[in-house]
Amino acid sequence: MTSSLLQPRNGDRLRPLVVFGTRPEAIKLAPLIRQFQQNSGQISPIVCSTGQHREMLDQVLGYFSITPDLDLGLMRPGQSLAGLTARCIESVDGVIEQHQPDCVVVQGDTTTVMASAMAAFYHRLPVVHVEAGLRTGDLGAPWPEEFNRRVAGLVTTLHCAPTQRSRQALLDEGVPDSQVCVTGNTVIDALFWSVEKERADDTRWRSKYPMATADRVVLVTGHRRENFGGGLEAICQALLELARLHPETQFIYPVHLNPNVKGPVHAALSGCENIHLVPPAQYPEFVWLMDQADVVLTDSGGVQEEAPSLKCAVLVTRDKTERPEAVDAGLAELVGTDRELIVRRVSALLEQSNGRSQQSIQDNPYGDGQASRRITDWMLSQS
Ligand code: UD1
Ligand code: UDP
Repeated sequence: MTSSLLQPRNGDRLRPLVVFGTRPEAIKLAPLIRQFQQNSGQISPIVCSTGQHREMLDQVLGYFSITPDLDLGLMRPGQSLAGLTARCIESVDGVIEQHQPDCVVVQGDTTTVMASAMAAFYHRLPVVHVEAGLRTGDLGAPWPEEFNRRVAGLVTTLHCAPTQRSRQALLDEGVPDSQVCVTGNTVIDALFWSVEKERADDTRWRSKYPMATADRVVLVTGHRRENFGGGLEAICQALLELARLHPETQFIYPVHLNPNVKGPVHAALSGCENIHLVPPAQYPEFVWLMDQADVVLTDSGGVQEEAPSLKCAVLVTRDKTERPEAVDAGLAELVGTDRELIVRRVSALLEQSNGRSQQSIQDNPYGDGQASRRITDWMLSQS
């Protein structure tokens, strides 16, 4: 069972179908696609965007100079989970039928991932799951991502676990050790690729985000479905109170395009002088913003992984996280959506902060910038 988990159908080159649909998948697969391109003698990917996201995805593809071979254009305004899932399974099924890849590579926990893994399974194709084995153990948090990950995991042949903890979670579920490789998270590869470039572009980003040069900066993101409604409202109320308590601090909030986020956030926070609601930031700008921030308040998965490299304090607006490594290392803290707790913890961090100085990026529990190389080497060793 060590040398034939992936089998090229024609010739010597492995032809993986690489599928992504949302902003974080594109950021985390871009370094892997580049690595495949560097091994073009042995591996020839078919790059497929489901278009689950549109503007937020296209921003990323432009930055990393990736042009998908196929774009399924699946996004609909205010799409339902079931509707998107159905469109995605059917469309990816058609792509597999037409292109006959050797395997399907997916990353993370979105609808695109779950539906593409199912389409591969129906074709009896091996699935390579990048960022495998993250678990909270609760199907309701994050929702529906915990479900998506477990479904993808059930039909995965090569599990690329970012950490020892995620490897152990897979072994505990009965996955054979030979099918798990601890690779690190490709999000750190992407960050290493971009951070020095964006630091060098400081003047450009300072003129675009003058408020980010204030003495104290809090960067905010939020889009989790389990926080829609009351949770999001409580976060907004906490921000209003924080803005009043810390009038010199600038709060920068790139607002996600999901209408269930954009509508309520603008309704609650527009007009407050030191809260800046801006459109989703391009990835390089967002990296630069994290590098400026004293505190990041977020429910994002990817941001929890990136922020420790940039040494900004992270408060996670979730009750549970499938990425506990940063919490265990004292680099992040769960605050849920408790208004009073958010106000207390952000205030405490702002009072402790001496202002940020740029740090060298190192010692990140999620990776060392070599994940894409390890994944590629492992795939090739299995073909
Ligand atoms: C999705 C993922 C979530 C991931 C997040 C990353 C699922 C179920 N959810 O959440 O796991 O953390 O992406 O950001 O897979 N929209 C636009 N333009 C865009 C993107 C979204 O207008 O570029 C709007 C559309 O109205 C769309 C809605 O947002 O219907 C929801 O998009 P969807 O991908 O279903 O969910 P997200 O909340 O973005
Ligand atoms: N990000 C970005 N612009 C933003 C907010 C986030 O480019 O305005 C990046 C961030 O650096 C990280 C990724 O998007 O790499 C995280 O995506 P998101 O929070 O949408 O999804 P999640 O990681 O929670 O699935």
